[in-house]
Amino acid sequence: MKIRTTLSARLGIDYPIIQAGMSWASSNVALPAAVSNAGGLGVLAAGPMRPHDLRNALAELKASTDRPWAVNVPLYRKGVEEILDIVAEARPPVIIASQGAPGDHLKRFHDLGSRWLHVTAFPKHAEKAARQGVDGVIAVGVEAGGHPPDDGASTLVAVRRILQMVDCPVVASGGAADGYGIAALLALGADAVQLGTRFLMTKEAGVHDDYKQAVLAADVGDTMLAGRGNLPVRCVRNEFTDAVLQAEAAALPTSDPQAWKDLLSASTLKQAAFDGDVTRGKVEAGQTAGLISDIPPAAEVMARLIDELKEAFGRVEAMSGRVNSRSEFA
Ligand SMILES: Cc1cc2nc3c(=O)[nH]c(=O)nc-3n(C[C@H](O)[C@H](O)[C@H](O)COP(=O)(O)O)c2cc1C
Repeated sequence: MKIRTTLSARLGIDYPIIQAGMSWASSNVALPAAVSNAGGLGVLAAGPMRPHDLRNALAELKASTDRPWAVNVPLYRKGVEEILDIVAEARPPVIIASQGAPGDHLKRFHDLGSRWLHVTAFPKHAEKAARQGVDGVIAVGVEAGGHPPDDGASTLVAVRRILQMVDCPVVASGGAADGYGIAALLALGADAVQLGTRFLMTKEAGVHDDYKQAVLAADVGDTMLAGRGNLPVRCVRNEFTDAVLQAEAAALPTSDPQAWKDLLSASTLKQAAFDGDVTRGKVEAGQTAGLISDIPPAAEVMARLIDELKEAFGRVEAMSGRVNSRSEFA
């Protein structure tokens, strides 16, 4: 049984489940191919990829699945024009853009037949992207791994607020790691749910094993939002986040903004994801790290998500049956 929403029908996927674009973790073919082949939307993360690696990966991904797939392009990355040219050559079924405005590029990709989903951390950016004609906005809440919004709005609140403001489909991102979370966000009004940390914790994800072990060991309170006011990043607490807390306590962001910026950029995701330095690097992960206790293949994650989603829907149906029954109230 497929689960159909307006957006899943438009994208041609069997389930309204999107594997989030994650630099390093999904900058490979294996993860997006596995998710797309299992009926979700797999997303290749172009963020850290060199142009020729991206071109090869796009060709390989196209050959690995006959189902819809997507590519994530952070629009602020260096050399983005060349990256967009390479992506356009591949005619992706879906492009997921983050960190920038869609306006300049939308027509080109629509002319190629691609759908454009736009990641937004703030309701007013979502409204602007919707006005420019994107096919959907992805609303990211503060629970999310990567770069969640600075304003601290949770996914529960951000999605409702954005639904009040736009008339295109809204995808919820942040805080879902199982089918129950997906069911809750679909019930809230989302047209699909994007999961990052859950797919980070799969065999196919392209991060160092020590990174996966650090996320496995983390509980729901063991991540923090580091660098408020300066493209904050949610990551697992370690020496880097301790240094950030100490700097904040010493008022470094206001007393020496350049030293604050230097501190935030001295540690990187690559350091943790590629080199395996999980003590000083940025171990980006969401609060759902605490809900995850294994590292299975992505296809198994998809199968579980679908089973749990159906179970959650069944639970709600049973509840509403009871509420509607006169005898329950008698
Ligand atoms: C390791 C990691 C890397 C990420 N890299 C990107 C990226 O390159 N582009 C992007 O748009 N979002 C990125 N994100 C954010 C995810 O796309 C997604 O919004 C987030 O993981 C959803 O929250 P969740 O982790 O609670 O599921 C990243 C997240 C993680 C955990």
